[in-house]
Amino acid sequence: MMDIQRLMIIGGGQMGSGIAQVVAAAGMNVILNDIDPAYSLKGLGTIRNNLIRDVEKKRKSQAEMDAILARISLSSDLEDGRNVDMVIEAIVENMQIKSELFKKLDLICPQHAILASNTSSLAITEIASFTKRPDQVIGMHFMNPVPVMKLIEVIRGLRTSHETYLLVENLAKRMDKVPIEVNDFPGFVSNRILLTMINEAVFCLYEGVAARESIDEVMKLGMNHPMGPLALADFIGLDTCLAIMEVLHEGLGDSKYRPCPLLRKYVAAGWLGKKSGRGFYDYK
Ligand code: CAA
Ligand code: NAD
Repeated sequence: MMDIQRLMIIGGGQMGSGIAQVVAAAGMNVILNDIDPAYSLKGLGTIRNNLIRDVEKKRKSQAEMDAILARISLSSDLEDGRNVDMVIEAIVENMQIKSELFKKLDLICPQHAILASNTSSLAITEIASFTKRPDQVIGMHFMNPVPVMKLIEVIRGLRTSHETYLLVENLAKRMDKVPIEVNDFPGFVSNRILLTMINEAVFCLYEGVAARESIDEVMKLGMNHPMGPLALADFIGLDTCLAIMEVLHEGLGDSKYRPCPLLRKYVAAGWLGKKSGRGFYDYK
């Protein structure tokens, strides 16, 4: 089996930076790429802060922290992917933008390289179709916050090879994560269930069933969820939540997946949740 040693993560946002952290912590070299250098720099700052907390809590030594940081380099040039064994894409949840990226990656990356997507909902089979290596394209769906959450949903596209699947399964284990295999359907398993619940919580708010805090407290105290669904939506990003609902609605064709108009309105207003300072709650 190929030994994956050099990776490039594309998208230095909340997911991309978390993925870069766990890859580097597992001993591999990683390039963190973003079209906007300010984002990858911010991502590196988040990684550093997470590691400082690990050192303070004696989960890592200072030397381990320094070694992890030394394995991460920043980039805003896709050509930096010409020597990598694998790419994990974590850019905006939009098929058009991802398709353009995968076409470029297919030209730049070495023939043996695996191209993985961290998409929350989009079809891996379709993403793979924009490349000449559909057998080496796979979904590697990390959960937020990446350094904490154990699950990686591994999604096989129709043409993903078994070898590619095994490489990714092995990589997930090297990162101390638990890979779970699912097939290529809109939203996979995780977001078909989670986002339908979140969207229903937004409908509860929209229809005046209860106040936002009450909706969240019901789910926290009544169902033992660590966060209420509205706070979790803010944490994920309301733009990402809306994009996922659109994929579920269009892909599964059932009106039960229609995005709540209130979710649309918030996204249109630029209220994207925690990352923009305002969503269902105010973070300023
Ligand atoms: N990055 C790194 N570490 C973090 C973190 C972050 N953003 N947030 C919290 N942590 C760590 C903290 O360091 C803390 O550990 P220590 O105290 O030992 O240092 C630990 O997690 C617990 O954090 P807190 O005590 O601050 O808070 P908490 O107990 O409420 O836990 C939480 C925070 C882990 C985020 C928890 O609230 C939780 O599990 N929430 C639900 C998360 C969830 O559902 N994620 C899935 C989202 S959906 C998705 O990812 C898929 C998609 O496609 C949309
Ligand atoms: P984010 O908005 O925090 O970050 C996205 C980053 O991608 C930004 O820094 C942006 O500058 C960069 N970017 C956009 N287009 C680019 C391009 N063409 N090339 C390079 N960089 C580009 O988003 P996020 O929450 O990190 O989500 C990223 C992906 O991960 C999405 O596909 C999302 O569905 C998925 N995902 C999100 C979560 C979550 O909870 N937020 C969980 C799992 C998966």
